[in-house]
Amino acid sequence: MKITKAVFPVAGLGTRFLPATKASPKEMLTVVDKPLIQYAVEEAIEAGINELIFVTSTHKRAIEDHFDKNFELEYNLEQKGKLDLLETVRNILPADVNCAYIRQKEALGLGHAVLCAKPLVGNEPFAVLLADDLIDNANGKGALLQMMEQYYYQKCGVIAVQEVFKKDTGSYGIVKTRADNSIQAIVEKPKPESAPSTNAVVGRYILPGEIFDYLEKIPKGAGGEIQLTDAIAKLVESQRLVAYHFDGTRYDCGDKLGFLIANFELAARDKVLGKKFMAHVESMLKNIKQG
Ligand code: UTP
Repeated sequence: MKITKAVFPVAGLGTRFLPATKASPKEMLTVVDKPLIQYAVEEAIEAGINELIFVTSTHKRAIEDHFDKNFELEYNLEQKGKLDLLETVRNILPADVNCAYIRQKEALGLGHAVLCAKPLVGNEPFAVLLADDLIDNANGKGALLQMMEQYYYQKCGVIAVQEVFKKDTGSYGIVKTRADNSIQAIVEKPKPESAPSTNAVVGRYILPGEIFDYLEKIPKGAGGEIQLTDAIAKLVESQRLVAYHFDGTRYDCGDKLGFLIANFELAARDKVLGKKFMAHVESMLKNIKQG
């Protein structure tokens, strides 16, 4: 079945970025010149998605506005002859891509946020992208497109994974896989001593519609939240799902350090800014070394 819908849970509180996220969503934080959510949306569109479903909360209007038309701005840029910028703001979404927004009334966890999208997704397979996991694959296919190819080839759900240090397993969902990469078990935030592997789930999923049945039933899990991982753990008891090691660099932009590293590395590679930015970094390092 062709996948056309992607869910973007953007209803988290973003407490690690306070005060920046007090009145503005974490997903609108900017890496070089684009908000995190735009990177994720572009990755989804590249993978063939044309229905974008945002699970939002209060203070998320900026996301709706970002993907909406801004007549005043476009008129202003046109009058001033700033045609490059006009193209940039006009073409954020291709004409055949639609957006829908649904509220998560309370931040009860990622699993609950995904469940909120059920009325818009229905009973079909769909993608989930967490914008705070920025995955850059500058010279190749985006992570979701790679996963989509796996989905059509393997004919089952696909979950993106990445190898992490053993000491860090407590920050992730960790999977145990069989020889054919199918998932045997998945555990949310296990301590290093009890982690079944060091393969950590990152924020890209292709899931069957049946996931909603499990999300409706599972109790609160780690951190008192409805965890997507717990529903997947139940799902894999009756359905094949594969773990996929994608090609690309993942930046944890839900964390200040990861966010700063993403800005640094993408700025260093930027066609317009890169050289000047690195010249500044080099002179800064020189000054530091000279004391
Ligand atoms: P995080 O675990 O990073 O939580 O959510 P958070 O609230 O956004 O941030 P911190 O930890 O307080 O700093 C991972 C993803 O799940 C979404 C978030 O928006 C983010 O994309 N999420 C999380 C929801 O949509 N709803 C929730 O109830 C929780």
